[in-house]
Amino acid sequence: MNNFTYYTPTKVVFGKDSELQLASLLEEFHCKKVLLHYGGGSAKRSGLLPRIENILSEANIGYVSLGGVKPNPRLSLVYEGIDLCRKENVDFILAVGGGSVIDSAKAIGYGLANEGDVWDFYKKVRMPNACMPIGCILTIAAAGSEMSNSSVITNEDGWLKRGCNTDYCRLKFAIMNPELTYTLPEYQTASGCVDIIMHTMERYFNQAENMELTDGISEALMRTVMENAKILKKDPTNYNARAEVMWASSLSHNGLTGCGTDGGDWASHQLEHELGGMFDVAHGAGLSAIWGSFARYVYKDNLLRFAKFAVKVHKIAASGKDLTSLPEEELDALALAGIKAMENFYHSIDMPTSLHELGVDVTDAQIEELAEKCSFHQTRTIGIVKKLDKADMIEIYKAAR
Ligand code: NZQ
Ligand code: ZN
Repeated sequence: MNNFTYYTPTKVVFGKDSELQLASLLEEFHCKKVLLHYGGGSAKRSGLLPRIENILSEANIGYVSLGGVKPNPRLSLVYEGIDLCRKENVDFILAVGGGSVIDSAKAIGYGLANEGDVWDFYKKVRMPNACMPIGCILTIAAAGSEMSNSSVITNEDGWLKRGCNTDYCRLKFAIMNPELTYTLPEYQTASGCVDIIMHTMERYFNQAENMELTDGISEALMRTVMENAKILKKDPTNYNARAEVMWASSLSHNGLTGCGTDGGDWASHQLEHELGGMFDVAHGAGLSAIWGSFARYVYKDNLLRFAKFAVKVHKIAASGKDLTSLPEEELDALALAGIKAMENFYHSIDMPTSLHELGVDVTDAQIEELAEKCSFHQTRTIGIVKKLDKADMIEIYKAAR
């Protein structure tokens, strides 16, 4: 097992009516004026936003509002948020929404707590050394931003989608009421489930040794989300299924399923971020569209792990318990069966397994551009199962068509 640091400072308040604890949580963090940050209208339509405004007014906590965060959140709104917060002396940011709103809040938080242009942190020319305190009321189980160290922002100038990862942006609290996710469209529920599973898959596909506990937690998490995603397709207001998926969203991306590994692969996420930047697709759907092609391209570089994934996660039978004693041809067949089973699951919840199914018919020139951007103009490789350079990226995007 590799050495690791596991840091999850976010206070999780989970369950029915948990948003009623908002005022006491804000008081605990000594907040005087809040930026109420939200998305394109779902929180207004569901009645959640007026209820939060009431809670704040009754507790005499001042606030200013900034809605309009788009999925694949934009840098221009982040700049607007920074200006507004400076003008209004905001000292706490409350994100009401999903990954996009939380990531936008984190970027505003960086902008407020550091000098200079916040995009520098996403371009990675320098790193932030602080962030304004942030809390959230989560309305979609997906990105895991409520407990992650990550924020992903899209710069409309060049349509670059880039991430910044530091512990400074970890949320002070995350309010998670599974009932708030009942109003999600089926596509967003399914796309969220893909993203949740993928956050553990990215860590699971690594080049480290097998680990009993971390692998076991990961396998249970992936199976749990698959089972409950199927329940939600038929029964979207099933509380327990919503709760399982919501808790999985946080555990899948707070570092737990990566403890003791080498950090994991993450190539699918890098390949998808370029799709999100260029075509504005839902992140989870972009991941399911690319993953099978990625997996078939790299699986031979860690055959045993892909075979283990087939056996432990998809319950595909092997001829012996000890996978290391199986012949290579059987491992190969198991690995491919596991990849196919994953794609079958994606289809079972109406998620795409190709770019065409995603609604994106890419030209050769666009693939060249995606790979050029993803390789940071041929200055980096991605992935750990197999290091992928620009030429590899082109092959994977082509295979995903
Ligand atoms: O904008 P509104 O009207 O609120 O609608 C949203 C949006 O259209 C809607 N929605 C959210 N809650 C709802 C609801 N509709 C009805 N009822 C509700 N209760 O869902 C749509 C998607 O919302 P979004 O916040 O974009 O979803 P998600 O949580 O999947 O976040 C995606 C973003 O997070 C990034 C992705 O790249 C993408 O930009 N990621 C962030 C990560 C992180 N910070 O750790 C990690 C991830 O890998 C990911 O990259
Ligand atoms: Zn993701």
